Amino acid sequence: MNKSLFLIVIFFITIRLAFASQATYEGSKRCRTCHMRQKAGMIYEKWEDSEHARAYEDLSEEERKNPFCLKCHVTGYNEPMSPGIETKDLFGVQCEACHGPGSLYKNVEIMNENEYKTNYSQQRKKAIEVGLILPTEEDCKKCHNTESPHYKPFIFRVAYPKIKHLIPRRYLGE
Ligand code: HEC
Ligand code: HEC
Ligand code: HEC
Ligand code: HEC
Repeated sequence: MNKSLFLIVIFFITIRLAFASQATYEGSKRCRTCHMRQKAGMIYEKWEDSEHARAYEDLSEEERKNPFCLKCHVTGYNEPMSPGIETKDLFGVQCEACHGPGSLYKNVEIMNENEYKTNYSQQRKKAIEVGLILPTEEDCKKCHNTESPHYKPFIFRVAYPKIKHLIPRRYLGE
């Protein structure tokens, strides 16, 4: 094999690997299975009732065609989606708008109840390595900023309690 052909082959292998390990958007329905109901803290239900979940519905027909609006009112707008997922599955500010694209962390190897129970910090580290974000004030401000035509001053200490969601047993000391 001559040298340039070799380099081309290496180039395509690198591209493939890069894409194979890139996390993609799943849509909140795929988080629902494990994060709904009382036992899991009603996280999905709380989100479903929030203004974040309605962020797309609140746009007019016209505004729904405006990419400027969509980048904050749709999750992972213009970013890679998982197989079977379409933009309509990502309408609104969903879980992954804050927690990062979920294709690599939402599986039972990473988000595993027993592993989390026995080895919490190690499991969390694994999840973060494949894209899980535990959002902070700075992550909120990617949307809650003056670029937003309806911007209201964003005070994290006031805003966060309105959307806060917890897994109950972590706080029962189990
Ligand atoms: C197969 C079931 C399952 C699916 C699907 C799933 N999760 Fe989880 N998730 C869990 C379990 C179990 C835990 C650990 C709970 C605990 O702390 O005991 C967890 C923990 C988390 C945590 C906290 C992690 C940490 O280290 O504190 C976040 C955030 C999270 N999930 C978000 C998501 C999002 C977003 C999705 C969808 C993209 C998702 N999960 C899909 C089961 C799942
Ligand atoms: C992807 C963009 C995005 C991110 C990230 C985001 N938000 Fe929002 N948020 C919105 C949009 C859009 C609305 C308005 C939804 C509607 O009413 O149509 C909103 C509304 C809200 C509201 C309700 C309106 C109000 O002012 O009382 C609260 C509270 C809120 N966000 C808190 C947060 C917090 C806390 C974070 C970070 C942990 C956060 N948001 C991250 C886009 C975002
Ligand atoms: C930089 C992110 C961002 C962009 C871009 C953006 N929005 Fe928003 N939008 C938000 C946030 C965040 C809120 C919640 C209000 C707040 O607290 O700032 C919001 C709230 C809204 C609301 C609810 C009204 C209200 O007072 O709560 C409507 C309607 C809306 N936006 C429409 C639009 C339209 C139309 C566009 C495009 C012209 C747009 N947004 C562009 C982030 C954005
Ligand atoms: C507006 C941003 C935002 C959205 C949307 C959002 N979360 Fe969260 N989530 C957070 C923040 C902030 C935390 C606290 C992170 C920390 O503990 O450092 C959190 C924590 C969590 C935790 C860990 C709770 C615990 O007990 O430690 C889980 C599980 C979780 N989120 C799942 C979800 C799921 C599932 C959805 C969608 C149904 C979702 N989140 C939507 C911002 C968000």
